[in-house]
This record gives sequence, structure tokens and C-alpha cells, in this order.
Amino acid sequence: MSQLPLLTNGLADLRKQLNEHSYRYYVLDDPSLPDAEYDRLFRQLQALEAKHPELITSDSPTQRVGSTPLSDFPSINHQVPMLSLGNVFDAEGLQAFVKRVEKELTDLGRALLNEELEFCCEPKLDGLAVSLIYQNGQLVQGVTRGDGQTGEGITENLKTLRSIPLSLRSADNQSLPELLEVRGEVYMPRAAFEAMNEQARLADEKTFANPRNAAAGSLRQLDSRITATRPLEFTAYQVAQISQDFAVETHEKAMQSLKNWGFKISPDLKVVKGYSGLQNFCDALAAKRDQLPYDIDGAVLKINDLRLQAELGFRAREPRWATSFKYPAQEEITRLLDVEFQVGRTGAVTPVARLEPVQVAGVTVSNATLHNMDEIVRLEVRIGDTVIIRRAGDVIPQIVRVVLEQRPTNTQSIIMPTSCPICDSHVERAEGEAAYRCTGGLYCPAQRKEAIKHFASRKAFDIEGLGVKLIDQLVDNELVKSPADLYKLKVEQLANLERMAEKSANNLLEALEVSKKTTLARFIYALGIREVGEATAANLARYFGQLETLKQVSVEQLLDVDDVGPIVAQHIYAFFNEPHNLTTLDDLLAQGIHWPETQVRREDLPLTGQTWVLTGSMQNLTRDQAKEKLEALGAKVAGSVSKKTSQLVAGEAAGSKLTKAESLGVPVMDEQQLLELLASHTG
Ligand code: IVH
Repeated sequence: MSQLPLLTNGLADLRKQLNEHSYRYYVLDDPSLPDAEYDRLFRQLQALEAKHPELITSDSPTQRVGSTPLSDFPSINHQVPMLSLGNVFDAEGLQAFVKRVEKELTDLGRALLNEELEFCCEPKLDGLAVSLIYQNGQLVQGVTRGDGQTGEGITENLKTLRSIPLSLRSADNQSLPELLEVRGEVYMPRAAFEAMNEQARLADEKTFANPRNAAAGSLRQLDSRITATRPLEFTAYQVAQISQDFAVETHEKAMQSLKNWGFKISPDLKVVKGYSGLQNFCDALAAKRDQLPYDIDGAVLKINDLRLQAELGFRAREPRWATSFKYPAQEEITRLLDVEFQVGRTGAVTPVARLEPVQVAGVTVSNATLHNMDEIVRLEVRIGDTVIIRRAGDVIPQIVRVVLEQRPTNTQSIIMPTSCPICDSHVERAEGEAAYRCTGGLYCPAQRKEAIKHFASRKAFDIEGLGVKLIDQLVDNELVKSPADLYKLKVEQLANLERMAEKSANNLLEALEVSKKTTLARFIYALGIREVGEATAANLARYFGQLETLKQVSVEQLLDVDDVGPIVAQHIYAFFNEPHNLTTLDDLLAQGIHWPETQVRREDLPLTGQTWVLTGSMQNLTRDQAKEKLEALGAKVAGSVSKKTSQLVAGEAAGSKLTKAESLGVPVMDEQQLLELLASHTG
């Protein structure tokens, strides 16, 4: 019994640590701990709580994994209705909105004496609105918008979102409002959505049409354990109710309070003045739209002064003090005219949709990817069908759905060719793979072209002036069969090609000459080994230092490299054990391709054989930078301290790892000593 207070404190401390890391990771986007370390602390907490269930608190991070399924969602009335917003679509509509609110304010006796009205602008996130109620700082209820008056209680599901605080953060134990109702959007970032769909495609499971549907489907799970596995995020955009003492004058200040209490608010939130300020904001955000990590469907423009908001009030189901400026839709309807099969660098034969051209979010789209044959079966799509396509961000446009009600009578089914449309080689499907592949290898001009395009691309050999059209001609005229042939080209051969003359031919030869000086990382990337992208190539170069070493590595050694899993390791191993590829390598080197030998062999590096651990926060380096520098000196950097640890670097506020290192007698140094050590090795 006497142990209990101690244990309670220990648990509180663990929770505090985990909550802090989770906040840094999910709200600030600035992780402070390696994932493995977080997982270790998390398991420690889980184990302790399993032994002492009576000590579990509702805001424990373990409570975010979901709990037993519900039989249905309770119906809950909103204390303050959740309304919708009016829309404007262009400059004219925006101007009319500003004029209208100015008039309404004047009518209310709030003449704006030469002062331009202040607005707070935010992106209109394309997800689902939810309301969260906090009592004395604790999350007690989460509800969907529903019809605006009544929603569904989805508290358990919302608790699984790491960007929703279970209890409000309070700096220096400042008091918290007795009541707080926060509203905001739950959404799925684009990359996470694509990754989830890709997983589903591989597993032959149902895919979602867009991130919004994926977010909706994930929130509507009666089993919150499923919601917990979905990459959902929450961004707050409104305080709907707050205890009197905490009320502030502007929307911007209210958002600032939410930020301090641990909510994520939009990084693009901005206060502007008058019509021109609004227009500039909408234009700037529209220009950024494709680069944002999530879908938005417009901008929300709100009068900043909360007193003015209250005075203006509502009309029908919309606030008078706000509107949304809508951007063009990311989904449009069109017709599938034909399906062609493209052959990629690795021989994958991919169906590509030819569409009746249509404008989608400001861009004309006439092609879309169909991924693979499984996708075609899943979509039940046929040539001639009416389809909904989606273009968002930099992602290639996709067909998301067939409009079956609008299927013409004469549609045709889509059939995978049995031989390569380019070289006529046999097409086959490898066991367990979704892709069909042309077996022609570099005999296939399509694969040859793609291999050369990849070789010449910016992140590989970066050969200026060697564009796609020129590569097509070089391969079609059989002047180039492999990348090494590029370096054997003569001015006369090039000058005779279409759209080439002596000057451009000479320029290209010069660019080829320049490209011979490269780096090992670029060279490895340029080889086009399956699944080896820029980052993996750089890791391989850093780890092995020399091409010769890489040619002889085993799968086990490859698995030691960051980011290299069993499949990638197998691809790399297979590549360097294929005699044909080794000839290609020799051929390239014989053309004079070279790189600086910056890397000494690993055995000769100063920290080879040592395992280092980093803990606490550092002033001059991020954790990743320190890790990279230590690895460059040959050290292995691990996540936890053990007997085998050679050295611990303890930054500020180092905790359990420092204690453990001291108890095991592991040498400890501080940031300053680390900086000195790094400087002594790098000069
Ligand atoms: S404010 C009273 N701000 O847009 C109006 N709404 O039609 C309160 N939405 O489904 C809404 N981003 O979920 C507001 N930054 C933002 C928003 C936003 C997205 C959604 C909201 C609702 C719809 C309003």
C-alpha cells in the first residue's frame, strides 16, 4: 500500500512525458523522441496500468487506442447550433459580401470611421466538423455536426486522435475554463490517405474515393479501435462556448488561447483588412492549394471582432459575420474514352485512362491513372463509362468512381494485353504482385527509354538538354541502348536529329561531359534499382562508401542500412548479382564517370564499431543532425541505453536514459563535448 503514492507519481510522470512527445509530434510537427523510444515508454505505461487498472486516468495516452465497440452512437443536442457558411465564388461575390457586412454594421450604428474592417482568414479544410466539450480542462464529449441541431456522440473515436488534447495544457498551472466548447475539422492528410489506399489496394480491400470520405468512414466506426488506426487529424477553428472569465475580444485571440491549450490551429491563419486584404489572402491561398498537405475547398473569412460577430448574429442557418470563398472543385465528371497500356522503367504494364478533357481545380485533365488491373475490377469501369475523376495536389489524377446510372449501352471491357504493346515480349504477372510486367527487360524500347530518362533526370545525372523527346529519338534510332551509350554519342549523330543542330548537339555533349563528375549517391540512384529512391541511395552511399563494397554486400548487411527492409534489400542484392548489370556498371565507369572519394571505408572511420545514444534536448543541433554526423563518423546511433552503449550524449533535461547510463557505467558527455568531438574529426 505504501508504494502506491510513489507509483501514482511515476505513472503521472510517464504520462506527462508521453503526452509531451505526442504534442510535439502531432500538434507542433516537431518530434523530440525516436519512435522506438516513445513505443518503449508507452509499453512501460501500459504494463503498469495493466497491473493497477484502478490507477488509469481518462487522459492517459493509453486511452487513445480505442475501447470496446458501441452498439450505436448516442444522439446529442448541440447547446449552440452548428451552422453552415455562405459562399462566394469570385471577386464580385467577395466585394458584395464586404459591402453587405459594412452596411449591416452601419445599420447597427457601428459606423466604420475610415477604418477598414478586420477579418481573420483561414483555409476551409475539407473534412468533417466536430464539437468538443471540455469541463475543467478535461475532454468530456465529442459530437459530429449532424444536422446542425443534433449530432452523434463519437467521444471514444475522437479520443483516439493524437491532435485532440484529452486534457488542456496549462502553462505554469494557470487556471482553466470551467467550460470550453471547441469546434474544428477532422480530416485526413493527403499523403496518409494515398498510403492507406495503396495498402488497401495491395490487400485487395475497399479503397476510399477521397480523403474526406476516408475521414468520414473512419469517424463513423462503432469500434474506436479501428478509428485509432486511421491517420486522422484535428485543427480547431472556433470557440463556440467559454466561461466568462476566459472570453477574449477577437477570433484571433481565441485561436491563440486554443493554441496555448494544446490545439492545432491553422498555420495559414491571418488577420487582414478590408476587401483588398481578403482578396489577397484568397489568391495567395489558392496559389498554395496544391502544395498544402491536405485538401481545402476554399477560404473561410470571419470578422475578427467577436463583439461585432455577436451583434451581427445569424440569418437563417448562416452567420452574417463570415463567408467562405470557394475554390474550383477537385472532382469532376467526364467520360472514359479509351484505356492504353504504358510500360514503365521496371516493365510494369500500367493501364492509363484517356479521358474527354475536363477542367479540374484549374487544370485541364485528359489522362488519369488506373493503377493496375485489380483497380479496374474494383471500380467495375468499362471503356465509354461516365466517371468521376479527382485531381488534388501533385498527385496524378485518378478515377474514383463510375457513375453507373449514366452508363451508355455500348461500353467495352478493359483487357490486359498478353504481349507488350511496345516490344511484343510476353507479359506476365509475378506471384503475389498486382502489376503485370513486360519480360523484355532492356530489349524493350519502353523500358530502355524510361531507364535513360531516369538516368538523365535532375536527381540522378542531371544532364541538361537531354529531354524526353530527345531520348525517344535516340532510342528509336538505336543510337542509345544503355545509359553508357550516351557518352559515346558524336556531334554528327546528334545534329541530324529532329530539332537539333550543331550548336545544340555540342551543348549536349558538353552537358554530358559535365555530368561525368557526380556523387556515389546520385550514381546509385541513377541505376534505377527497384524501390531505391533518392533517400535510400544516399543511405547506401553513406553506409558502404564505395561501389566495390556495395557490389559484394549480403542481404543481411543491406538490412543494417536505414530504410532498407527485406524487399528492398532483395532488389538491391539481385541487381548487383545480375552479370548484365555489372557489365553496365563497368561500361559506365569506362566512360569516365567518377565521384569524389569523400567517404573513407567504414572500417577506417573513427567511431566504427561504437553504439551511441542521444537524449535530452540540444541547443545547436537537432537530434537528426547529430545522428547524421555521428553516423558519418561510423557510429551506430541507437534509441535506448544498454550495456553495449559506447557513449551517451545527454542534452538538457535528460531523464531516464541518463539515469540508466549512469547506473550501467556508460560514459556520458554533454552537447558541448559532442560539438568538440565532431569538430575535431571534421576540422
Ligand atoms: S467556421 C458558423 N472555419 O465549413 C460558422 N468552418 O459551412 C462556423 N470548415 O462544415 C464555421 N474549415 O466544418 C469554419 N476554418 C474554418 C473551416 C470551417 C472548414 C467547415 C466546417 C463546416 C463548414 C461550414
